[in-house]
Formats: sequence, structure tokens, C-alpha cells
Amino acid sequence: MASVPSKHPETSSLPSSWDGQTLANAIPDPLIIVDPHDRVRFVNHAAESFFQLGANIIQGQGLNEIIPFDSPMMALVGQVRGSSSSVSEYGLILDGPRTRPQNVDIQISSILDDPGYIIITLRQRGIASKIDHQLIHRGAARSVTSMASVLAHEIKNPLSGIRGAAQLIETNLDSDGKSLTRLICEETDRICALVDRMEVFSDPRPLERHPVNVHQVLEHAMKVAENGFAKHVSFKEKYDPSIPSVPGDRDQLIQVFINLIKNAAEAVPAQGGEILLTTAYRHGVRVAMPGTRERMNLPLEICIIDNGSGIAEDLRQYLFDPFVTTKSGGTGLGLALVAKIIGDHGGIIECESEPRRTIFRIMLPIYSGPDKTTGE
Ligand SMILES: Nc1ncnc2c1ncn2[C@@H]1O[C@H](COP(=O)(O)OP(=O)(O)OP(=O)(O)O)[C@@H](O)[C@H]1O
Ligand SMILES: [Mg+2]
Repeated sequence: MASVPSKHPETSSLPSSWDGQTLANAIPDPLIIVDPHDRVRFVNHAAESFFQLGANIIQGQGLNEIIPFDSPMMALVGQVRGSSSSVSEYGLILDGPRTRPQNVDIQISSILDDPGYIIITLRQRGIASKIDHQLIHRGAARSVTSMASVLAHEIKNPLSGIRGAAQLIETNLDSDGKSLTRLICEETDRICALVDRMEVFSDPRPLERHPVNVHQVLEHAMKVAENGFAKHVSFKEKYDPSIPSVPGDRDQLIQVFINLIKNAAEAVPAQGGEILLTTAYRHGVRVAMPGTRERMNLPLEICIIDNGSGIAEDLRQYLFDPFVTTKSGGTGLGLALVAKIIGDHGGIIECESEPRRTIFRIMLPIYSGPDKTTGE
């Protein structure tokens, strides 16, 4: 295995047992060194996990065996080799024979002492994009919040008057007239139910956080689904039984998973529909909290995965906005509510989708400390 040469070992203040390879392996981003014949000479641990291949397999292969020949990255390598400069490219979609397309920033430079050698570093954009998205979702939830309180006053009160009046005149009408007053009542009920659903957004009470067992929440939501709207679906679970509790509101979290499972159940085919629920503990997922210098660990990952037809690319960026729906009877409030509750819990939600595999991934903090009540 080729190692990155250490230029001044005798003057280095680092421990003498450390070599370039040790340092390269400590870098959390994938790093690849390519020789003048475009053969991979070194990959660090992060690159092994990025390509889902061991170093002993990748090293010695042509770069085009791990990166498709027509990938823009190949052209960038050629550009650097021709000019001995370095290039950065942001937001490139990289896929390989064994990996799914991933959004990355790439930096390519030549090694000064030996310009035929090229060093490539990749940075996965996942977490940065998640933070951006989460901030957008919070904004969306806030706009529903103010609208919800207006609606409650300006629509619900007059509606109850209209409904009451319809019931009063009903007593003097024949059957044709009665069917019309019944229509008025049904429609006012439907609008009231919609406003009720939005009222959750305007609830000013701070979130009461208690330790909540995520598996119990998932099981509860699944039971509701299996006995109601998801009778046609087969559920699978892949839980990490050792994950700790999350600080949160159990009922609100149940609401989150019922909404996500309902969407999944509505997306899967009538025959062979499957929903997989997974939980896992992930180290090293830290995000900046908006408006503060605080950073928060979000190590708890919960995924709802379905084998439905997927979500169209152009819909994905608006998915968590209120009133975005593709269903004839949908309100488009389900995911807006989910995003609000997860945001209130200090977590993040994101979506990945391809045909037959749509993933809603939630990352949450873990509970550490005695029962307490905290607001935002
Ligand atoms: N798992 C999924 N698979 C495919 N599309 C999805 C999935 N989840 C959400 N969607 C899409 O996102 C849209 C918004 O979902 P959301 O839950 O906010 O509203 P809705 O389901 O349409 O309405 P409601 O939740 O009021 O019934 C849906 O109409 C659907 O097009
Ligand atoms: Mg929904």
C-alpha cells in the first residue's frame, strides 16, 4: 500500500510512529491518490466506506473502475494534470458501480513534489444540505403558525354560525331542501376539521420534554396503521435495541410517525407494499442550532422506508411546505406538521427518494438528564 510521504520527519513535532497514511486515515472525508497513469495508489478509510470497497481492492485499479468514465470528475482530473493547478467543484453528483448517487464537493490538486500524482478529496454534502433544508422547514412551519391563528378566529367562528343556521332552517324543509342543508353541514365540518388540524401549529405552549422510548412510539404508530389505513401493507422492523431515549413529547412523536407511515402506505402498491422502520445510533452527526453558537449532537436516526413509486424530483424541495399535495383529498399539512414537531424537538428530517425506495430520515438528540420541562 502506498503511503503519503512525510517531508520532514526529523523536525516534525508529531509522534514519530505517525506516517502520512495514519494522518490520511484520520481525515473524515474520502481522500484518493492517483498516479500518472490514473491508477488509484491510495485511499483512506473514509474513501473505503464511501465506495463500499476495501483499500486492497481499490488500490491498483484504474480511477475509471471506481468512477464512471463519463463522470465530470474524470475531466477535472485531466484538467489538473494538464495545468498543475487545483480545482474545486461544488455539488457534483457522483455515482460508482457500487454506490448510489451522492452529492459531493470535490477538490483535486496535484502533489507539488511529483505533479503526475493527483490528490482528490470529496466532501459529502448531506449534512450541510440537511441543515439548509431544516431551516427552510422551520420557516414554512412559522408561516402556517400565524395563518392558523387567523383562520381559527376568522373562519371557525362564522362557520359554526352558518352550521347552526342550516340546522335551524332544516326543520321547515322538504327532503330536497334537507339534503342541501346537510351538504352545508358536511362542508362546514370538513372546513372545521382542516382548521383544527392547522391549530396544532399555533399552539403557543412550550414543548414538554420527557424521556421517550422511540421503539414504543414506532410500535404504537405501526399498530394504529395496521389496524386502520395500512391493512394492505407488510411492515418490517430493523431496530437497534440499545438506542437511548429521546427528550420529547410522546404524543407528538406518535403523530409524526403516523403521518409518515400514512404517506408511505398511500404510496406503496396495493399488492406487495412494504414499509421498513429502522433505528440506529450514528456517531458524529452534529448540527449548528439556528441563531445560537451551540452545536447539537443528533445521533439517533429513525428511517421510514417504503417501496412506493417515489417522489418526483421537482416536488422534493417543496415537500415540507404546507398545502403541498398530489392527492385529491389531501391537505398537504402532514409533512409540514412533521417538520414542525421534529424542529421543536431540535431534530432534522430529510427525504431521499427513488422509485421503489423512498426514505424519510429523522435525526434526533438523545435524552441525558432527569425529567425536565423545557421550551424552545
Ligand atoms: N412516502 C411517500 N411516497 C411518495 N410520495 C410522498 C410520500 N410522502 C409524501 N409524499 C408526497 O408529498 C405530498 C405531501 O405530503 P403531506 O403528508 O404533507 O400531505 P398529503 O399526504 O398529500 O395530505 P394529508 O397528509 O393531509 O393527507 C403528498 O401529497 C405526496 O405527493
Ligand atoms: Mg400525508
